[in-house]
Amino acid sequence: PADVPVITIDGPTASGKGTLADEVAHELGYWILDSGALYRATGLAASRAGIDLDDAQAVAAVARGLDLHFRKGRATLAGEDVTEALRAEATGLMASQVAAHQPVRDALQQLQLDFRRAPGLVADGRDMGTAIFPDAGLKVFLTASAATRAERRHKQLISKGISASIEGLRADLEARDARDKSRSASPLKPAADALSLDNSAQTIEESRDLLLRWWAERGPFSVQR
Ligand code: CDP
Ligand code: CDP
Repeated sequence: PADVPVITIDGPTASGKGTLADEVAHELGYWILDSGALYRATGLAASRAGIDLDDAQAVAAVARGLDLHFRKGRATLAGEDVTEALRAEATGLMASQVAAHQPVRDALQQLQLDFRRAPGLVADGRDMGTAIFPDAGLKVFLTASAATRAERRHKQLISKGISASIEGLRADLEARDARDKSRSASPLKPAADALSLDNSAQTIEESRDLLLRWWAERGPFSVQR
């Protein structure tokens, strides 16, 4: 419903959107929408079904029939736990491939709107402020330098015991960003009324507190701490 407040956080990969969305939603007691997970699940499900990821209509049919559930921090797809599979970089690439098709974006639109429930929602992705929630009360466009983002992804992988080269990770993320920015369907770009935040030199806590301050300054939505 339109009277439920929404905060959107859009930006390139590894800029810290998901982490910041979690922190802010936790502080405010709001719901959370990780829209990237829907594109990741669509890419994974289509690929597992042997569907050509360039076939927009076939992939859109997969998106419409997505049997995806989130519970206690785990994600299941058709009953199978896919939490780790969804986070894999290969799945991110599949997501970016299927996300370029307008019919796929249309198929996932209502699902995303359904996350808007009282007392509020924090939504992160690429087009949350531009296409899905254009009336959001606060829109943030989160960025960080490519070097910083590659280092962050590297640290995440190392902590999971996966080795990777920072140079390779940086090349991968720059290639995915380029595809997300250049596509015609809801490209990655700041909404006209978004506040830009480069968090390269910020801690998660600093970014969180800044967003909460912006939100409190915006008026009728009280910060319930
Ligand atoms: O969702 P997105 O891909 O934009 O990024 P993320 O998964 O939230 O963040 C990528 C990594 O950067 C995580 O391990 C965060 O803990 C880390 N990060 C950080 O070290 N400092 C920040 N200010 C923001 C994120
Ligand atoms: O965590 P990270 O930022 O790397 O990726 P993500 O947010 O999970 O998104 C994976 C891919 O899905 C992106 O590269 C986009 O191509 C696509 N995506 C999108 O098109 N629109 C969204 N609202 C969210 C993700």
